[in-house]
Amino acid sequence: MDTSLLFKPFETANLSLNNRIVMAPMTRQFSPGNVPNDLNIEYYRKRAAGGVGLIITEGTCVGHKAANGYPNIPFIAGDDALAGWKKVVDAVHAEGGKIMPQLWHVGSIRKTGVEPDPEVPGFGPSGLVMPGKKRCHVMTEEDIADVIASFAKAAKDAKSIGFDGVEIHGAHGYLLDQFLWAGLNERTDAWGGSLIKRTRFVTEIVKAIRAEVGPDFPVMLRWSQWKQQDYSVRLVTTPAEMEEFLAPFTEAGVDIFHCSSRRFWEPEFEGSSLNLAGWAKKITGKPTITVGSVGLDAVFTEEGKKDFNDAKPASIDNLIERLSHDEFDLVAVGRALIANPEWPQKIQSQNTDDLLSYTKDMLMKLA
Ligand code: FNR
Repeated sequence: MDTSLLFKPFETANLSLNNRIVMAPMTRQFSPGNVPNDLNIEYYRKRAAGGVGLIITEGTCVGHKAANGYPNIPFIAGDDALAGWKKVVDAVHAEGGKIMPQLWHVGSIRKTGVEPDPEVPGFGPSGLVMPGKKRCHVMTEEDIADVIASFAKAAKDAKSIGFDGVEIHGAHGYLLDQFLWAGLNERTDAWGGSLIKRTRFVTEIVKAIRAEVGPDFPVMLRWSQWKQQDYSVRLVTTPAEMEEFLAPFTEAGVDIFHCSSRRFWEPEFEGSSLNLAGWAKKITGKPTITVGSVGLDAVFTEEGKKDFNDAKPASIDNLIERLSHDEFDLVAVGRALIANPEWPQKIQSQNTDDLLSYTKDMLMKLA
């Protein structure tokens, strides 16, 4: 199969990429003190050297007291963390790559006992950890304003240290997605209720970021139907709903939609083979990124159970076929890039026999 389409340069909204390959954001928990260090620098430098066009960093916490949910997560707030990220950015640029941080707030997934202040509980639109289960802090108007400001500040700082844009983490059941998902958002004020009212929090974050970074700095939004709390959830069930859902984000200034699915080849709606990124591109006219088991054979027996576990290398013919129809613009690769830092170069040179399988134990080592 001719893979040259994957290696065609891409230009949009003040972003020019050498090729269509994006490194998917992946949490690695290798930053004690919440500061990126030499391990993080080398990890990203290697993937840029291996030919990735655009790296999206692991989720990095904005400067809000409840943003973090796990140990050893790098933050994008505070002088030390920003100085650490600047070294990552410079190393990636020196290899000819581009890089954006993924701005993250975990919301109600946070538990007390987690850094930086162990006393701070999880925060959620309605304090729900799972639908129907109330266990954490219900966000006030002031909390909402603080979180919006923390995203805007993180984007401004990202721009000032040389990142090539930002990705807002609106997916997978974390805080922004908790506002989008009726199951965790039971608010009856301006931040909850109808689909449109549930989009308001994310829209205000996009607007606040735009106001800080200006019109020329690329802003991406990652969103998903699936939630880690429940893989079967769908935010939108028809193309018309998707149109209603994405319009406020486009108007607020999103340049690229990163449409997170677990298997890129799955059709999103009945009657068409288009996937999630395909529909988002068709509906918004904006560039989109597809993702989900690219270059891997996704083996799963029970729904969800084996997701993101071990997987073997697999053909990308179906992906190239879809790219040739302009279904989406960019392709994010996750686990295959953990296993093979030089995945793009190996695909380009058709040198795929020595591609390694992804195994979960690789997560113990940052290499
Ligand atoms: C992830 N994923 C993820 N997504 C995200 O938006 N922010 C994150 O911080 C993480 N963290 C993360 C860690 C690990 C170890 C894995 C395996 C995955 C999801 C990831 O970006 C991607 O969407 C999926 O892994 C599917 O792509 P692949 O791995 O099938 O190519």
